[in-house]
Amino acid sequence: MTRSDADVVVRLEKATRIYNPGENEVRAISDVDLDVRRGDYLALVGPSGSGKSTVLHTIGCLDRPDQGKVFVEGRDTSQLDANALSRVRNERVGFIFQSFNLIPVFTAYENIEFSLQILGGVSPSEMRDRVGEMLAVLGLEKQRDRRPNQLSGGQQQRVEIGRALVKRPAIILADEPTANLDRKTSEDIIGLMRRMNEEKQATFVFSTHDEHLMRHARRVVRLVDGRVVSDERTP
Ligand SMILES: Nc1ncnc2c1ncn2[C@@H]1O[C@H](COP(=O)(O)OP(=O)(O)OP(=O)(O)O)[C@@H](O)[C@H]1O
Ligand SMILES: [Mg+2]
Repeated sequence: MTRSDADVVVRLEKATRIYNPGENEVRAISDVDLDVRRGDYLALVGPSGSGKSTVLHTIGCLDRPDQGKVFVEGRDTSQLDANALSRVRNERVGFIFQSFNLIPVFTAYENIEFSLQILGGVSPSEMRDRVGEMLAVLGLEKQRDRRPNQLSGGQQQRVEIGRALVKRPAIILADEPTANLDRKTSEDIIGLMRRMNEEKQATFVFSTHDEHLMRHARRVVRLVDGRVVSDERTP
């Protein structure tokens, strides 16, 4: 493996996803080649229906391509059985969904802790340290014992980010992470993700329509009709 290959967290090779094969088929993505590199802060942009969510699901192995390949940290995921694939998803990928996925009867602390319980292999004392550190980074120490319905939208979104990050995954994926937030809150969330990218070299890939978030991205990949039409790094 060359040095530059070791830097690739996820590689898509000619990834194609076809819905409803046959007469009414929809090519959600076509021949997408993409290397996500360690430390990337990458925005997927493009019109509605251009394939952003499909690319994210493919990178995160939530969905398998019909043609082409997905490599996660050099491993060809087409060679993995369902169990091995779900281990990759659980251990190596962090998903930030919109906050509706928080468990309503759990506090902020417990929601983040649960992510480590699922991961397994983390001792209770390490769990306490990691969840505590995460809450501090997120600025949620005072809200640690509140349930989701006692938190604002932005605070819930921060808990969601904490759940993804506490696992220390190789890559964090977010589908429109600021879509339901007001401007101030989305700026806070963008700042938080960017800080984690700079300080911890966390790798982020997100889809967005948000101009502000796009301007903060260090790499912008544009999709049109399921194809990559540009891939630019900002200086
Ligand atoms: N489950 C599905 N069945 C059939 N077609 C689908 C399915 N999911 C997505 N598609 C189609 O695939 C294409 C790409 O969809 P995708 O959700 O990836 O776009 P997107 O860029 O995320 O759009 P948006 O900005 O609206 O979220 C669209 O034409 C969409 O209608
Ligand atoms: Mg989408």
